[in-house]
Amino acid sequence: MKSQKPAVLVIGGSGEIGSRICMDLANMGFAVGVHYVSNRNRALEALNEVEKKSVGRTFRSALQTSEDILALSNHFFKWTKNPFGLVLSGGIIPWKNWKNLSRKDWVSTFMHHCVAPFELARVMSMRLPPGSRVVFLSSISPKYGGSETTLHYAAAKAAGETAILGLAMRLRKRRICYNVVRAGYIETDSQIKHRSAKVLRKRKSIIYLKRGGMPEEVSYLITSLFDRRAGYVANQKLSVSGGD
Ligand SMILES: NC(=O)c1ccc[n+]([C@@H]2O[C@H](COP(=O)([O-])OP(=O)(O)OC[C@H]3O[C@@H](n4cnc5c(N)ncnc54)[C@H](OP(=O)(O)O)[C@@H]3O)[C@@H](O)[C@H]2O)c1
Repeated sequence: MKSQKPAVLVIGGSGEIGSRICMDLANMGFAVGVHYVSNRNRALEALNEVEKKSVGRTFRSALQTSEDILALSNHFFKWTKNPFGLVLSGGIIPWKNWKNLSRKDWVSTFMHHCVAPFELARVMSMRLPPGSRVVFLSSISPKYGGSETTLHYAAAKAAGETAILGLAMRLRKRRICYNVVRAGYIETDSQIKHRSAKVLRKRKSIIYLKRGGMPEEVSYLITSLFDRRAGYVANQKLSVSGGD
């Protein structure tokens, strides 16, 4: 049976930030589509949390091709009678020193953090009703040009932001609220696993608030954009980055 509650598809719902977003949206009464790529168990854990408060379903997609993206969108709209939005919170950080970046690294990073999110937002926008919400989770890294190992990622996120906000302008007649949320250094495995304690201390020392953020702090800003009262917030870049 089709879900009646307003439904939101969360890309990267199996991730640390994404699963928190799924849970918070469910708490707000939304039906939640929990997307995952390979980590089915993490997606099922997120779904389990969602179902304590609302209804949900997992959606697997590699998001590798335009056909994958269209199929995911069709699958989501088949599930819900009442689509309300999309959170683009997927993607991994492809750590690599800028001196060693190959063309392949550049292409795959741009596909991942710009082209695929743009294609999905474009195809879903054609079926989302006026007043619905699309949020692209970006990073504070474009502000600084990334770090020694994230220059390409920062460039791809910057391009992703422009593509999503450009889409908003092209589709403004549809009256969908598109926004970008830039997260700073958030203490997730994707950040911590690759760095020594010394490097992590140094990373925190350059943040205005001198600490890393938590997934729930990113989720708070993103999910607040799904509140009915946030319906006048559109085409903005907001940051949750400890003052960075
Ligand atoms: N952590 C931070 O400090 C930070 C800061 C700023 C922005 N962000 C952004 O926040 C998002 C999630 O970060 P996280 O720390 O929660 O990472 P995470 O726990 O590693 O989660 C990554 C998520 O992305 C999914 N994924 C893998 N390949 C993908 C692809 N090709 N396209 C779309 N999704 C894919 C993963 O799915 P499976 O696990 O199922 O394979 C997983 O759900 C990313 O966009 C990241 O750039 C993170």
